[in-house]
Amino acid sequence: MEYPQTVGELTRTLRGGGYLADRGLSTALLVALSLQRPILLEGEVGVGKTEVAKVLAAVFGRELIRLQCYEGIDTNQALYEWDYARQMLHIRALSDRQIADEDAVDKLFGPKFLLERPLLAAIRAGEQAVLLIDEVDRADDEFEAFLLEVLSDFQITVPEIGTIKAAHPPLVVLTSNRTRELHDALKRRCLYHWIGYPAPAREVEIVGIRAPGVSETLTRKVVAAVNRLRELDLAKPPGVAETIDWVRTLDFLGETDLDPRSAGDTLGAVVKERDDLDLVRDNLEEITSGA
Ligand SMILES: Nc1ncnc2c1ncn2[C@@H]1O[C@H](COP(=O)(O)OP(=O)(O)OP(=O)(O)O)[C@@H](O)[C@H]1O
Ligand SMILES: [Mg+2]
Repeated sequence: MEYPQTVGELTRTLRGGGYLADRGLSTALLVALSLQRPILLEGEVGVGKTEVAKVLAAVFGRELIRLQCYEGIDTNQALYEWDYARQMLHIRALSDRQIADEDAVDKLFGPKFLLERPLLAAIRAGEQAVLLIDEVDRADDEFEAFLLEVLSDFQITVPEIGTIKAAHPPLVVLTSNRTRELHDALKRRCLYHWIGYPAPAREVEIVGIRAPGVSETLTRKVVAAVNRLRELDLAKPPGVAETIDWVRTLDFLGETDLDPRSAGDTLGAVVKERDDLDLVRDNLEEITSGA
């Protein structure tokens, strides 16, 4: 697919893929695509950070390669691993004479026994891929430093095989929920965009795309209520994902209005913390008091 030349064009393309981006996000993405720079998306929980990478891959017909970060993730899980099980099987099948042969041993560390992990896969796929490095704030410092290296030259050296380099880098989208501050060095490599909660009118539109067929009046009321919830001091304020869930839940139950009763019955779609539940239940009247 042809790459968009303007912010408006990219916004329309993303909308075609079911994603509503505001001008700021579209601009940042257009620059990332055009200048081949990684983009770091930070923001509240459930505001569409991960989703935008998926939609970008879908609308441009690229492969989505996802590296989900977590505490303790290391290069084996991110880059490549040797397939020990297959190597063992192969060794067993070799005769004593073959094992004495250097070549046979070298072959054990050839491409056939290399298990590609996301970063290697992305370097090989190059511009055919969108590399999503999700929740990078969960990985530890050392891993972040290693990522920095990969992101600066898109090149990986496997000692037994050689250096593999991307002719053109993939589009790289990193996301973070800011559970910890990322290092300046990593941030400097990337374009940065903060995704906040969408304005109510936009959130209504997002629900319209994601849960088509639900009454707009109900959606408006839910969006208004969710916005009130976000003003309360909740441990887990609801994201866009929760708004969509709440609307779907109400619709499924045949509710056409959001009142203290229907809201109270369906809170599990939107409030997912015990202490939050108590606080919300005490304020249901106010939370649901009209759009
Ligand atoms: N701008 C948007 N356009 C369309 N859908 C959206 C948008 N923002 C959020 N969504 C919806 O919200 C859901 C949650 O988004 P996503 O999982 O990308 O959030 P996230 O920011 O990655 O959250 P987390 O911080 O929990 O990982 C998506 O599946 C999508 O349906
Ligand atoms: Mg996410």
